[in-house]
Amino acid sequence: MIEGRPSDTALQVAASRAAHLRFDPAPHLLDDIHAADLLGPEALALVDGYANDGPWLLVENRLFIPLRARYVEDRLRDAHLRGIRQFIILGAGLDSFIFRQPEDLTELRVFEIDHPSTQIWKRARIEDLGWTLPENGCYVPCDFEKERVSEVLEETDFDPNQPAIVSWMGVVYYLEKPTVDAALRDLASILASGSEVVFDAMRPWDELPERYEKVRSVMAQYLSGAGEPHINRYRREEIIDAIRMAGYSEALVEEREDVERRYLTPLKTEIPLSHRFRLVVARVG
Ligand SMILES: C[S@@+](CC[C@H](N)C(=O)[O-])C[C@H]1O[C@@H](n2cnc3c(N)ncnc32)[C@H](O)[C@@H]1O
Repeated sequence: MIEGRPSDTALQVAASRAAHLRFDPAPHLLDDIHAADLLGPEALALVDGYANDGPWLLVENRLFIPLRARYVEDRLRDAHLRGIRQFIILGAGLDSFIFRQPEDLTELRVFEIDHPSTQIWKRARIEDLGWTLPENGCYVPCDFEKERVSEVLEETDFDPNQPAIVSWMGVVYYLEKPTVDAALRDLASILASGSEVVFDAMRPWDELPERYEKVRSVMAQYLSGAGEPHINRYRREEIIDAIRMAGYSEALVEEREDVERRYLTPLKTEIPLSHRFRLVVARVG
């Protein structure tokens, strides 16, 4: 992160969600109709980079990024049926759930937690748009490298006696592994039984098809220029161990084929599911 500037990757992933609506035919994985507005006039140009004739890596992201948001929102919907009413979005970036929350997810409380640099920018953007944060939402600033989520949540009406769904999408690989471990432990210490932490983790290079190796240095250059290098990758067993060691009762790592069948097959798209990421759930027993 570069202090005083919004996360560049947060703008990019919002652009990929806007691009999914612009370039992919319906049905869509996620109707993020707010992403383009949130990006604003300057960053909106990023959406063009995700067109069919753009770099294949971005075209893949155009599906995976909305997919991971949809995945967590599907888990939230299931959790709501079980009575869960708290939703924490860690490293929220330009996440727009709060503005498009389905009416049937009643009594939901939403906590948007993010690095202050990104959150300040987003709040200013929302003000420029003339939007108002719905009453069931609140913003909580937090730098995961310096502060604990449990501490910042103490300043809010988060109820640790009630379970919550935690979305931690697109963040883990920007943190040192000890920070990830500490954050998982910290969350486990405040989340009531029935809670879930839902996130994506990057797979090691040697598990990826060769085509990724060819774009490795271009990607690394962009990410370090943005001040957001990818600094960790996990094998399946490693992430399961990290979750268990942090005190969770269960670790679920989705199989790529299952994700593909559930989310991409209905789209009848030619675009492959990205190999780079794993969808992971840490459950509190
Ligand atoms: C790729 S964006 C993901 C945004 C959002 N979760 C999504 O999927 O659209 C990465 C997010 O992680 C946040 N982030 C990165 N490092 C952080 C840190 N040390 N503390 C808090 N947030 C951080 C950034 O502010 C940014 O919002």
